Amino acid sequence: MGRIRILPDQVANQIAAGEVVDRPASVVKELLENALDAGARRIRVEVEAGGRKLIRISDDGQGMNRDDALLAFERHATSKLRTANDLLSIATLGFRGEALPSIASVSRLTLETSTGEEAAGTRVEIAGGKILHVDDAAVPRGTTITVADLFFNVPARRKFLRAESTELAHVTALVTHYALVHPEMHFELVSATHTIVSAPPVTRTAERIYQIFGKETLGALLPMAAETPLAHSGLPAPPPWKVDPEEPVRDPGVMRLTGFFSKPELQKLNRNSIYIFVNKRIIRDRLLLHAITEAYRNVIPPTSFPVVLLFLEMPPEEVDVNVHPAKTEVRFRQQSLIHDFVRDSLRMALVKARPAAGFLAALDAQPTASSSLMPPSTSALPGAPEPGFVQQDSEPIAFQDGRADAAPFQLTPRLPSAFPGQLPFGVGSLNARSFDQKAWGEAAAALFTPAKTENCGSSDCSEVSYEKNPATETAQVEAEQAAENLSHLGSLKPLGQLRESFILATGDDGLWIIDQHVAHERVLFEKILRDRQVEQVQRQRLLMPLLVELKPEQMVIFARIAEELERNGFEVEPFGPQTLAVKAAPVGLEGVELERMLGEVIEQSGAEMGETKQNEDLEALRTRIAASLACHSAIKVNTPLDPAKMEWLLGELAKTEHPTNCPHGRPIALLYSWKEILRAFHRI
Ligand SMILES: Nc1ncnc2c1ncn2[C@@H]1O[C@H](COP(=O)(O)OP(=O)(O)OP(=O)(O)O)[C@@H](O)[C@H]1O
Ligand SMILES: [Mg+2]
Repeated sequence: MGRIRILPDQVANQIAAGEVVDRPASVVKELLENALDAGARRIRVEVEAGGRKLIRISDDGQGMNRDDALLAFERHATSKLRTANDLLSIATLGFRGEALPSIASVSRLTLETSTGEEAAGTRVEIAGGKILHVDDAAVPRGTTITVADLFFNVPARRKFLRAESTELAHVTALVTHYALVHPEMHFELVSATHTIVSAPPVTRTAERIYQIFGKETLGALLPMAAETPLAHSGLPAPPPWKVDPEEPVRDPGVMRLTGFFSKPELQKLNRNSIYIFVNKRIIRDRLLLHAITEAYRNVIPPTSFPVVLLFLEMPPEEVDVNVHPAKTEVRFRQQSLIHDFVRDSLRMALVKARPAAGFLAALDAQPTASSSLMPPSTSALPGAPEPGFVQQDSEPIAFQDGRADAAPFQLTPRLPSAFPGQLPFGVGSLNARSFDQKAWGEAAAALFTPAKTENCGSSDCSEVSYEKNPATETAQVEAEQAAENLSHLGSLKPLGQLRESFILATGDDGLWIIDQHVAHERVLFEKILRDRQVEQVQRQRLLMPLLVELKPEQMVIFARIAEELERNGFEVEPFGPQTLAVKAAPVGLEGVELERMLGEVIEQSGAEMGETKQNEDLEALRTRIAASLACHSAIKVNTPLDPAKMEWLLGELAKTEHPTNCPHGRPIALLYSWKEILRAFHRI
């Protein structure tokens, strides 16, 4: 007798479960997706002990009759797919017929379901993949699945489960994601003691963001929408002799992008706050992450990440969803088109919005370690760290993925919001900058900190109170966002300088403070890139060549970037084995700044080279040189400017694409809005 045997179904299911289900959150994911596919309008998720003890998901979808209820637990039994061709355009979240048998093989599962059309519904009880009972049940239309004692028969798996609070955080992330993509549905997530998510139907995504994350987060995000027609359908066209003349020509369709993106002032230390949905499916995708990072390049620091919620819609045949066991990755059929569409739409949206940074937000703008958006109530989870505690080493939330760097679903508690109702200027709370921080702190404090907040008690002096209605308040937030942008920079009236470093200017919207150095840096940066593109960088000959000494490894780096430096106005020649002679440089860059700039570019290029492959992106090198050139040629702090110069600078800044941030990501202009001023003086 041979040695090869076909495995019994139960064993095969357990092996499949190893791929599909690795923790309570992956069970929740599969069951939620089934409920969504069944057309549910309302989904309730209950968990006990972070889902380790119990997960119950109830939906009001189409339910199943008895035959289907039993068939659903067979492997490869699905109502969503019939032929191999259907695989090319999957419109449902599920398609493999694997989830239910897998989950049932590693837990004690009860299914209660009814189509609402038969006399009685059905209850099925299964333990470790064995059907124990099948009965009639008086249940309303819809389906409730209870999964108890997950991995009771797979001790090795059970051992790998984390603390209850961690597992619950993963489940919360999941429910939150699906709630975001379906604002029209009612989602609830409850634990034994808490309601964690309660999101009744709303009409718009903005309202859903408000419901789940609160006003503050919504206020830091801006909406976007873009659309592009597809030139051809994703699949390669068949050869002409295979084309059936009878078959109607397929419309390639359009690709739509809607979503929200953060103002540059909101920065995160990792990618965990980037949410990508393709055809209402949560995915992670390196290609799209790259497109997003590119869109924010030279607007936020390279080490920071934005908060982005992207909802991509495209014809199902454009995307292959059958590439990952937990269905969290997809493959696009027209990859570069999608990448560029996302990058360009986001970049355009940023250029168009020109969001003004408020003082309060700017003070908080250092990238936070609070890694992800999350519903505020989760910070009150039993066992969760206190608010304000930053979980540096928290385990990333990933559904199922071996790769550590591909885990965008991480949750940590939100930091408490700062200074309610108070002006945010405190000497100690300013962030380190390249100038005298203490002096600036004092100046700012003297200017803006109210000596004492007295309340005269009359009703017209009280704080404005908002209605707690998501629609009203969302509209309010959106109106504020639209009002405060940098379009009016050119028409501001400069009042003077603060410490010969910051321009104070007034406009209709309030009081502005503009950092003169970074403002000029942004102006120069964009000019250098433009000039470089048309090969029109102006150079000047130095009276005496500048000699720069380099270490041997720096000489190697220099050789790599020499050509690009030359195109940027440099004329540099080797002068002995370890010395360079700079004979010409771009206009405006001289002496010690020139030397520093060269040193900086060589050093940064070296660091980059160490990190990446030798084939470094030319575009990245170009922007690095431009940023460094701009920084070293720009007006310094502690430099007096006459009114004409200030006006010129504001005018030029207004013309730039990103007047919000310098190429290294620091804010340029901060608005102390009229409304904030009135509020701070208790006038509204
Ligand atoms: N909540 C539900 N309401 C109605 N029908 C359901 C529900 N959950 C599962 N089903 C039915 O059971 C079938 C099997 O579900 P299962 O999740 O195992 O597979 P699938 O969703 O088809 O594919 P996948 O394995 O990719 O999730 C589904 O195709 C669907 O017909
Ligand atoms: Mg399914």
